[in-house]
Amino acid sequence: MWTDPYIREHIVYAHLEPDDDDGTKPYAQVLAETAFWVKRFGAQGKVLDLGCGPGIYLRELAQKGWQGYGIDLNESAVSYAQDLNRDECLSFDIRSGDFLAEAWPPGMDLVIMVYGTFGTIPPKSRQHLVQKLKNTLKPGGRFLMDVFNQEYVDTQREIGSWFTQEEEGFWSPEPHLVLPRVWDYPDLDLLCRRYLVLSSGGVKSFNLWYQTLNHKNLLEYFSPTDWEINPWPDLSGESSRSLPGWSSFCVRRIS
Ligand SMILES: C[S@@+](CC[C@H](N)C(=O)[O-])C[C@H]1O[C@@H](n2cnc3c(N)ncnc32)[C@H](O)[C@@H]1O
Repeated sequence: MWTDPYIREHIVYAHLEPDDDDGTKPYAQVLAETAFWVKRFGAQGKVLDLGCGPGIYLRELAQKGWQGYGIDLNESAVSYAQDLNRDECLSFDIRSGDFLAEAWPPGMDLVIMVYGTFGTIPPKSRQHLVQKLKNTLKPGGRFLMDVFNQEYVDTQREIGSWFTQEEEGFWSPEPHLVLPRVWDYPDLDLLCRRYLVLSSGGVKSFNLWYQTLNHKNLLEYFSPTDWEINPWPDLSGESSRSLPGWSSFCVRRIS
């Protein structure tokens, strides 16, 4: 979905809606989170945003004095962020690519993966990601993430029925038929929402993966000898902002 040339453009616009939570969190929440990180971790440092989208978090952190790096699959989002960077004379460095395959810059104080992305990548790739994290974070550096918990994944079990669209819509620029279906894998705590999109251009399949994660199963990826996992009430540090269905973690590299 993030690489489809048509859909990826729509996703950028979804990210930029300041009051919606379709592509990223509402802007007030982004402000609260980034302000808290700066207060907690200092006014300067190096941050890598994995799955940075159009650079909403990097922009805030760059304005607050941090040196930012970002990687995202969505070329349209990256191109938007590069324009923003240039137009606002910011100095973050952002490129398109798969963060599992790309080399990451070394010496980071902070790595962030915001809005559920950790739960969308396959378990084996998560192990690879943690190895890369160890190489990129300074000792004492932090990895911040939020993940879907059971409450959130349960809300994704219901899906609408098939529908047709006579003109352009989210899934396609042409008239199309959408066949949605949920695949549940309870033994793996995994759910897939699959959308089959049929148009005169052919059939496309889009899979949205939701893995239930909690403190206990994160220990499978972050060994206690190398990492300290601290649950946070919310990435803004404020329990009053904590959303049902989401769990937030600050993982510190010990050695
Ligand atoms: C839910 S969005 C969150 C975007 C951003 N973190 C934010 O909150 O504004 C997930 C992002 O991760 C990106 N993404 C997912 N898997 C990726 C991968 N393997 N490599 C690079 N980017 C990836 C997607 O393109 C998308 O922009």
